[in-house]
Amino acid sequence: MTITFIGHGYVGLVTAAVFADLGNTVYVIGHTKEKIESLKRGIVPIYEPGLEELVKKNVKAKRLIFTLDYSPSISKSDIVFIAVGTPTAKTGDADLSTVLEVAEKIGQNLKGYTVVATKSTVPAGTNKRIKRILEESKPQGAEVDYASVPEFLREGSAISDTTKPDRIVIGTESKRAKDLLIKLHKPINAPLVLTNFETAELIKYAANAFLALKISYANAIAKLSELLGADALRVLEGIGMDKRIGNMFLSPGPGYGGSCFPKDVRALISIAKDNDYPFSLLEEVENINHQSRRDIVRKARKTLGDMRNKKIGILGLAFKANTDDMRDAPAIDIINLLQNDGAKISAFDPKAMDTAAAVLKDIDYKKEAYEVAEGADLIIVLTEWNEFRELDFSIIKNKMKSPNIIDGRNLYDSKEMTKLGFTYQGVGR
Ligand SMILES: NC(=O)c1ccc[n+]([C@@H]2O[C@H](COP(=O)([O-])OP(=O)(O)OC[C@H]3O[C@@H](n4cnc5c(N)ncnc54)[C@H](O)[C@@H]3O)[C@@H](O)[C@H]2O)c1
Repeated sequence: MTITFIGHGYVGLVTAAVFADLGNTVYVIGHTKEKIESLKRGIVPIYEPGLEELVKKNVKAKRLIFTLDYSPSISKSDIVFIAVGTPTAKTGDADLSTVLEVAEKIGQNLKGYTVVATKSTVPAGTNKRIKRILEESKPQGAEVDYASVPEFLREGSAISDTTKPDRIVIGTESKRAKDLLIKLHKPINAPLVLTNFETAELIKYAANAFLALKISYANAIAKLSELLGADALRVLEGIGMDKRIGNMFLSPGPGYGGSCFPKDVRALISIAKDNDYPFSLLEEVENINHQSRRDIVRKARKTLGDMRNKKIGILGLAFKANTDDMRDAPAIDIINLLQNDGAKISAFDPKAMDTAAAVLKDIDYKKEAYEVAEGADLIIVLTEWNEFRELDFSIIKNKMKSPNIIDGRNLYDSKEMTKLGFTYQGVGR
């Protein structure tokens, strides 16, 4: 099959590379000349494990073609996927301007029969707007069907999430579009949820909001555990053994971040409000998330007292391990608050230092984890990178001015850290 993706971010590039690897001819349309030129040489602008190799392999095999032009790729395609960003607008709603803009360009370049499908996360009802734009902009004789195929991949494990998803959701009113999309996804061999536009769109928001809710719930239990003298990790392990609850997404920490959960929770609150349903449960999910970030700062203040000119070393900046994504990372809010208090920040992240440098200023970025300990009054761990689990804390202690650690991801054994002479604080322990 010949398919086109508009957008080469975490979703567009990964799914395009996977479909190319399955033997399809895949065009990827971008809007930045330098990025498209780099991609043509197999250079990937984001960090995602295994992606660069997959892109290089399929570019070489001429199955993955990067371009700035809508023509002729759209006219040759059986299916066109929209995979551009849908960030939060000032109102809290999803900003659909790019999705709607590219829908018009797709429409103008349609020829013969084409299915246009949205992978971007868009609120229920958007698909009808896109369908209308496609119908109004397409040339005479072109035929188009529309579908919503929301994406569920996670950054850091995006390739295996795409090749082995828990389910594939296809929302469309057209049997022809449904059959073509089923044919494309057949080699992936995952359970299918076949439904209408609105249901497909809402499945995506409802899934992300529920996962965010689990994280906030874990953080609320962590807070209560600290107040009661309980061990939140054991409490959450204990409840996670119940199959009805499950043990995933129950790790307390600095709260959820990234490009999806914060914006999708906000958008679902806004969608509900627009339909006269105040979704206050989700408002509380957001509140707890903000509190979880502030709680790390509260612990730092309690440890150091006057924060002015205190040296704080940060281990991990990305919103989670195995990504360079800094969008809405807890590290941003936490570091800004610490800097407002007058603390001097040094930091190390294995992959996210370049993306962090674009959003976090006045930071002494270090080349390796041990360097953040140099003369530090406190170390705060904010991302659960595996390499941080392997650090030798006797070396770290010798480098620090005062051996204080706030383990925002509960990576370490509190007893061992105390035995080594650290003042150790985890989350919920
Ligand atoms: N990142 C995730 O883990 C994830 C998972 C599931 C769903 N989603 C959703 O998928 C969508 C894309 O997310 P992402 O993380 O890939 O975003 P991203 O910001 O990484 O990528 C967006 C891409 O769109 C391109 N783009 C922007 N304007 C364009 C234009 N006018 N023409 C062509 N390309 C343009 C950008 O260059 C970029 O390549 C969002 O709606 C997001 O909510 C993301």
